Amino acid sequence: MISTPILALVGTAALAGVAAQEVHNGITFEVQWTNTSDVLTTAVKDAYEDAAAEQATARLQAAIAATGIDSDCVAANNTPSGLYAFKDCIAGENPDNFYGLLADDLTEANTFWASVIANSTTDRTQWVAARTYVTGYFGAALSASEFAIWTASPFSDAEDLHSNPEHYFYNSTVTGTTQNAIIFEGWGGVLSDFGVKRTNFSVPGYSTPDFGSADYPEEWSISDDFPLAYQGIGPKILSDGTTFGVLHIAVRDVAATNSTPAGVQI
Ligand SMILES: *[C@@H]1O[C@H](CO)[C@@H](O)[C@H](O)[C@H]1NC(C)=O
Ligand SMILES: *[C@@H]1O[C@H](CO)[C@@H](O)[C@H](O)[C@H]1NC(C)=O
Ligand SMILES: *[C@@H]1O[C@H](CO)[C@@H](O)[C@H](O)[C@H]1NC(C)=O
Ligand SMILES: *[C@@H]1O[C@H](CO)[C@@H](O)[C@H](O)[C@H]1NC(C)=O
Repeated sequence: MISTPILALVGTAALAGVAAQEVHNGITFEVQWTNTSDVLTTAVKDAYEDAAAEQATARLQAAIAATGIDSDCVAANNTPSGLYAFKDCIAGENPDNFYGLLADDLTEANTFWASVIANSTTDRTQWVAARTYVTGYFGAALSASEFAIWTASPFSDAEDLHSNPEHYFYNSTVTGTTQNAIIFEGWGGVLSDFGVKRTNFSVPGYSTPDFGSADYPEEWSISDDFPLAYQGIGPKILSDGTTFGVLHIAVRDVAATNSTPAGVQI
């Protein structure tokens, strides 16, 4: 029964001559904006990463020229791999240097989010989720439980800092089942109307959600297909102590079908 819609989707895609998924390092990925919407037929990852790398490289070059910080770090080009080497050079000098380089961006972001918060008058049950569903068909190479463990490991911090073009600082520590993180990253998206807001915030107390509580209303609960054990949630708090959002990540195993290997959906 379950394979029927998937076979129909593959058939439609083949007929239209478009690939309803994207492939990276041999792994097929499907992206959906909601859990019931169609799989995107245009690849998003590379175009987004390219645009983000161009913006971040230009901003860091201008900041180095203006501040003189890390002036021996030079970007070979503004592609993602050029940016990652450029960021590694800066982080190699001192991971905190991103704060000095992008001090103006921090101020701009804090002002912007203060205005968003001041304009936000609804209670939490009315907050709008900005979710994306990504399914990666890794076969036996990755399970939901392994992904959940990896996200709470230092390997995940290092990878985010190195190869996420919107990250400038990422440090998390795990105590028991709770993760506390300090993150400095671009929010708003490189293609949005209001542009990138490079925001420094903490996510304290990131742990298994208790939906139906004052902090995490029942309205935020997603499908039971995502085991609570593989979900994490925590507030996103600006340096002045105000909350400007909530981070919620969930992962589940997706069973193999006749046409797809097993996968994980995040
Ligand atoms: C908040 O509302 C004011 C008044 O309508 C508006 O000028 C401002 O742009 C809003 N802030 C944001 C971040 O949208
Ligand atoms: C991350 O935080 C831990 C605990 O506060 C600290 O020991 C470590 O040096 C920090 N790492 C970086 C890169 O700042
Ligand atoms: C989609 O998500 C909503 C909540 O976000 C949930 O109630 C619903 O069961 C989900 N539907 C499917 C098909 O997973
Ligand atoms: C960044 O955020 C962390 C956590 O709130 C805070 O300790 C730190 O002082 C902030 N750094 C700057 C430069 O605002």
